[in-house]
Amino acid sequence: MQPLPGFRDFYPPDFAFRQLLFSRWREICRRFNFVEYDGPVLESLELYQKKSGEEILNQIYHFLDKGNRIVALRPEMTPTLARMIEAHYKEYKKPIKWFSIPQLFRYERAQKGRLREHFQLNCDIIGEADLEADIELMNLAIDILRSFGLGKEDFIVRISDRQFWSEFLTKKGVAIEEWYQFFQAIDKIERDPKEEIERRLGGLAKEVFELIEKPCYWERFDVVLEGLRHRKLEEYARIDLRIVRGLAYYTGIVYEIFDKAGKFRAIAGGGRYDDLLKLFGGEDIPAAGFGMGDVVLGEILKEKRLLEPSFPRLDVYVVFPEGKKNALGLLLIEQLRSSGFSVEFSFHPLKMKKQLAQAQSLNARFALFVTEKIAEGFVELKNMDERKQFVIPVEQLVGFLEKKE
Ligand code: HAM
Repeated sequence: MQPLPGFRDFYPPDFAFRQLLFSRWREICRRFNFVEYDGPVLESLELYQKKSGEEILNQIYHFLDKGNRIVALRPEMTPTLARMIEAHYKEYKKPIKWFSIPQLFRYERAQKGRLREHFQLNCDIIGEADLEADIELMNLAIDILRSFGLGKEDFIVRISDRQFWSEFLTKKGVAIEEWYQFFQAIDKIERDPKEEIERRLGGLAKEVFELIEKPCYWERFDVVLEGLRHRKLEEYARIDLRIVRGLAYYTGIVYEIFDKAGKFRAIAGGGRYDDLLKLFGGEDIPAAGFGMGDVVLGEILKEKRLLEPSFPRLDVYVVFPEGKKNALGLLLIEQLRSSGFSVEFSFHPLKMKKQLAQAQSLNARFALFVTEKIAEGFVELKNMDERKQFVIPVEQLVGFLEKKE
């Protein structure tokens, strides 16, 4: 039996890769003073109906639980974060800088870069309306990608502003209820045929295409680009009005990060969502953030061989020369493990040669021979790299192994 389509098994090498990716994410978030949180994997469907937008709603895994509640596997983290923050907003110093690495579930057509489950680093700043927070988030996303060895020739942050389009739509007298459909059309501009987009944009099509194709002046873009320039990051970003984001809740600066070669789906996406928290508690709380998935990033890092996990070495392989285990040897194994060393031995009786072969195949630093000398407080130790063997008092063993770390 296979896992379900779009779901992954993580065999140890895959798991090691995932852990290394996560530890890098955590490390860079820490440098920007973000702290980690998590929420439940299962939420009420209503949470997403409040504001995620049609696209995600169509992809939700939902079902009736035994208490007749309609529940959903989380398809994104932002509504959970909004709910959590709203409930305890006053207790935290502002701005709140939080990150999380949830596993998310979306019933999408499984394809390259898109699965039905993925892990997504979410970084959000809550309680800060200044554009400086949006710049800080972009800076963080860029630094994360750079920390893996990706450079400006590998990826680009494409930045836009929903306020630009809101102003455009207001001037054109488009009713607010129709804005979401407009954003959806722009969001699909690179994927769907031009005629289809033109049909959806109707009378606005010509002007929209003109705006998208030629550079335009918009003060907020200048502020963002200048912020990036000060950090010498301007070459990682460019303004691109085709980015509006598929999710309904964004209100301000939005961005998506793509590989420069255009081979993959988006690496990350985010933006400002100043009205979302109001839906939960009525209070005006500005917020901005982004999500970066593990699937596309993982594919890129594997292709470029930029993240290759190594397994830690086994410290000690304990050899019982006669093949028979004895109490003093087993106690020693237990003591070494309690002192923090990784220790392995054969569960069933084996010839000494075979035990040594196992030590070799496990890449052990030392083979430790438990002979009858253990009764007098001595063991034999073999350095597997230098192939040197010597006798050592048991009480000096921990100190010796530590020195050799
Ligand atoms: P999103 O654009 O839906 O945003 O997802 C962010 C990133 O998650 C994408 O760029 C992609 O790397 C990854 N991703 C999304 N869906 C899949 C999938 N089916 N398979 C693999 N990877 C996927 C959000 O979810 C927002 N809630 C992010 C955010 C946080 N906005 C503000 N704060």
